[in-house]
Amino acid sequence: MPYAHITGWGVSIPEPVLTNEDIAKMVDTNDEWIRERTGIRERHIAREDQFTSTLAVEAAIKALQVANLAPTELDLIIVTSSSPEYIFPATACLVQDQIGATKAGAFDLLAACSGFIYATNMAAQSIRSGSIKNALVIGSETLSRFTNWKDRSTCILFGDGAGAFVLQASERPGGVLSAVMHSDGSGADSLTLLGGGARHPATELTIHEGKHFVQMDGKAVFRFATRVMGTATKEALERAGMKLEEVDLIIPHQANYRIIETAAKYLKLPLDKFMINVDRYGNTSTASIPIATVEAFEKGRIKSGSKVVFVGFGAGLTWGALVAEWSGPIPTKKHVHPEQYRLFARLRSLVRRALRFIEGLFSRREL
Ligand code: UT7
Repeated sequence: MPYAHITGWGVSIPEPVLTNEDIAKMVDTNDEWIRERTGIRERHIAREDQFTSTLAVEAAIKALQVANLAPTELDLIIVTSSSPEYIFPATACLVQDQIGATKAGAFDLLAACSGFIYATNMAAQSIRSGSIKNALVIGSETLSRFTNWKDRSTCILFGDGAGAFVLQASERPGGVLSAVMHSDGSGADSLTLLGGGARHPATELTIHEGKHFVQMDGKAVFRFATRVMGTATKEALERAGMKLEEVDLIIPHQANYRIIETAAKYLKLPLDKFMINVDRYGNTSTASIPIATVEAFEKGRIKSGSKVVFVGFGAGLTWGALVAEWSGPIPTKKHVHPEQYRLFARLRSLVRRALRFIEGLFSRREL
């Protein structure tokens, strides 16, 4: 049975920064309150011309560069997002088209902030089963588009960004060792974005009622998060046959510094066992774990052979954890330039659109 290794990683962070002081000019809040209650100092906000797929594509190309893998070699693309570009088509298909992943299946996975753990597990299991060899998993968010900038209880929290992993099959032991995924829909009301779906299609009334914005019972989510972070970590480690002492780094979903602190206390671990960067990005939902991972790697906190736990929670309610042995790129002599495929992808997309148009002109209506 092949192992599923994490062989590539990349992020895309929009440049514009929104500080706590900036938010204090919009709503009745202040830097001290936000830092004390959440640990957040600033977050990045996508420019008007940056979309969920734009950030996803940038992160994907970087991850493919690290893995030294051509987009044409991908078998599967999973995009997980709490702010997908559309209800359909899937953002994953937009990515597939833009990077030129000619033979990949592509779909979106919705598990809110736990999405990256769910998606990485789905990709890893597809590789472990032998049905695919190369997968791309992306968490990408432009949650600022669904943020009510008049609601001080939510607008201080979220940020935009994307992160991606490439997963590849190898006979060498390691890679994704175990994962757990959980849900509890009885808590569905705690964190919602109700408008625009089939139950509340967009109307003047839904807009008037603010249903197109994120709504949250912060305290309920906080209580739930502090309960599940530690238990999911322990459960995933048990499945991997590992002890907590063997873990080099825990990379939690970056929602709130205090939630991570409480999880550390529950696990009786020092905080330096955790990767924390919520101060500079806020809560980037599905993107927070890969963004934190790439920073951990760049700071030398993850090396080849490191044992890492990813753990997250979010709307649904959903939560999960995944244990991996960090592998790095699979050694090869070939040198691939994934970014060069983008021009080819654009041309291919244009030709296919033109052919579809011509086909439409000449096809006769079937009676
Ligand atoms: O990916 C999952 C996404 N969500 C989360 O992880 C959120 C989890 N929850 C949290 O992080 C916290 O519950 C929050 C940061 C959202 C709120 O912190 P809290 O300590 O639970 O505050 P609270 O909602 O209990 O509010 C305490 C007080 C209230 O005032 P009163 O009623 O005590 O007078 C709020 O009105 O703080 C007030 N408040 C604020 N004050 C200044 C709420 N938001 C703000 C604000 N600035 N931005």
